[in-house]
Amino acid sequence: MATNQETAVLANKVAFVQGGSRGIGAAIAKRLARNGAAVALTYVSSAERAAQVVKDIEAAGGRALAIRADSADADAIKAAIGQTVAAFGRLDILVNNAGVLAIAPLAEFSLEDFDRTLAINVRSVFVATQEAARHMVEGGRIINIGSTNADRVPFVGGGPYAMSKSALVGLTRGLARDLGPRGITINNVQPGPVDTEMNPAGSEFAATLKAMMPVGRYGKDEEIASFVAYLAGPEAAYITGASLTIDGGFAA
Ligand SMILES: NC(=O)c1ccc[n+]([C@@H]2O[C@H](COP(=O)([O-])OP(=O)(O)OC[C@H]3O[C@@H](n4cnc5c(N)ncnc54)[C@H](OP(=O)(O)O)[C@@H]3O)[C@@H](O)[C@H]2O)c1
Repeated sequence: MATNQETAVLANKVAFVQGGSRGIGAAIAKRLARNGAAVALTYVSSAERAAQVVKDIEAAGGRALAIRADSADADAIKAAIGQTVAAFGRLDILVNNAGVLAIAPLAEFSLEDFDRTLAINVRSVFVATQEAARHMVEGGRIINIGSTNADRVPFVGGGPYAMSKSALVGLTRGLARDLGPRGITINNVQPGPVDTEMNPAGSEFAATLKAMMPVGRYGKDEEIASFVAYLAGPEAAYITGASLTIDGGFAA
């Protein structure tokens, strides 16, 4: 059993989680708060669920704030980061989790979905990182949520999604060069199949994915959150520019 001192490694830190109303992002927001950080989380449509995440964090003694900000809208992201700094006084940790998954065969994939995938999965990461870095000081941590699909795409119709997650590999490497001299790290966590509304473990699609995985099961959002919490903490200062896969062996 961890002592309070052990779990509060993020005491006095402030985190901003893009897309924290449900799924992996909600688990990350709660975990960072459990480790002592004040957490702002964004959402686009799930206002009630975002409010519930805030309530859960507050009920556990933490501080949290939900902000409606569409990650496809650069001005909305910048305003949300400004609101976070105004509310909590600083910014130490940025988690770029908001993402969308559009799957369709090549002939049917719309350009609207292609552009939306890029705007939310890639451009928002750049915009938030640029804005957050203005507020961060030495010890700052940026964590992108990519996907194991950057390395392996064993299904039809996933090209644009895989491209968006592959883009984060290069973006993370390049931005590590910008941020390293300031003592700020940036890393890209690549989950495998995780049981969320984006990818429910009970679906037919899930059955084919599970069959390809050495561990034979879906991941849990808390498993991703705990890895993110480690990267957000002081012990991870020597990890930067890395794409780190946590996928039950999906890409093995
Ligand atoms: N689940 C998996 O198997 C899996 C595997 C690898 C990587 N990932 C990645 O992990 C991340 C989270 O996935 P998830 O499975 O937790 O997805 P999810 O259950 O669909 O949740 C997505 C979260 O992102 C938010 N979001 C979506 N579009 C947004 C926008 N335009 N602006 C602001 N927030 C937005 C949602 O907010 P609202 O509730 O308001 O819509 C929600 O909080 C994504 O980047 C995804 O690509 C997931």
